[in-house]
Amino acid sequence: MDVSPTVTAADYALIRNPDAASPTQRTAAMEAPAFGMVFTDHMARATWTLDGGWADRRIVPFENLSLHPGATVLHYSQQVFEGLKAYRWADGSTRLFRPEGNARRMAASAARLGLPAITEEDFLASVEALLSVDGDWVPSEGESSLYLRPVIMGTEACLGVRPSQEVEYLLMACPVGAYFSGGVRPVSIWVAQGFHRAGEGGTGQAKTGGNYAGSLMPQQQAQDNGCDQVLFLDARKDKYIEELGGMNVFAVRRDGTIWTPRVTGTILEGVTRASVIELLRTEGREVIERDISLEELRAGIADGSVVELFACGTAAVITPIARLVSPDFDELVADGGPGALTMHLRGRLTDIQYGRADDVHGWMRRVN
Ligand code: COI
Repeated sequence: MDVSPTVTAADYALIRNPDAASPTQRTAAMEAPAFGMVFTDHMARATWTLDGGWADRRIVPFENLSLHPGATVLHYSQQVFEGLKAYRWADGSTRLFRPEGNARRMAASAARLGLPAITEEDFLASVEALLSVDGDWVPSEGESSLYLRPVIMGTEACLGVRPSQEVEYLLMACPVGAYFSGGVRPVSIWVAQGFHRAGEGGTGQAKTGGNYAGSLMPQQQAQDNGCDQVLFLDARKDKYIEELGGMNVFAVRRDGTIWTPRVTGTILEGVTRASVIELLRTEGREVIERDISLEELRAGIADGSVVELFACGTAAVITPIARLVSPDFDELVADGGPGALTMHLRGRLTDIQYGRADDVHGWMRRVN
């Protein structure tokens, strides 16, 4: 029998920010914010201890943290995070896109990192509580949204390598527009040279900061080579495409099928990835989750059997890919323009997210 007490938004005690932005300051801050650079007035917090479990749920002013220099997260990266978005609909309401998927994945990531999970109910309660006080930060312009970033991290001061016995949950929020500078445009992808994102049995499937830290140097190389993102190949054979630094990847074939790397434990199971697959299958399209070698992808681009490539993720939504680049090749996908199916899917997904199309899948959750 489940005896865990019910958690609701009301369990998050509110300590209001006395220095909250004025409506004028907020409007100015929300004008074309760079991704993840503008934060709202409050954040949600909860504290976990070995003896007491999760307690002290609260909404507090957004402020710097006070952390012991010996905190586990600073030394052994014991941390997991999520990314989800709240959308402003034309009727003024605020909706979340499939937050239950993020809650479940965060629990799975936490388990992999030896951290206590928060329940799906608690996760949703924290989001609702934060939005009830910072709801005016959900933008309504174009394809903007409020990006929500929950984090669970080990805060115990302990240099011994073992799971932290004190853990903090944080939820912060940022009004955002397009992830890539320059808006929605076809991006260029650099194939990582000799660096891998994740190995079998590692943490590739978990959304943990370490995976992203390891992607930064190859990502820098991508930028040094004029590309927007890096694509990682599998660590065992350095042969099969896996995912980009922070998003999943799909290939559209001339025969109408769509391929995406199968999840193997080294790839993050994106909520957007799953939604794209469902949208395509609902339209009667064949989606094949399989190993895709770089060689066959390149051959397909060269002979025209691969007609579109796109990246997807919460932050990136659906972003067309124009070029695949390495020191040895520079493949232009079709004419390099945004592919028709890519843009159709983008439209279908964002129409649901912004309430312009019926939510036939039951993906949107009203919060206020
Ligand atoms: C997301 O799409 O939410 C991500 O986590 C990608 C990146 C911003 C880390």
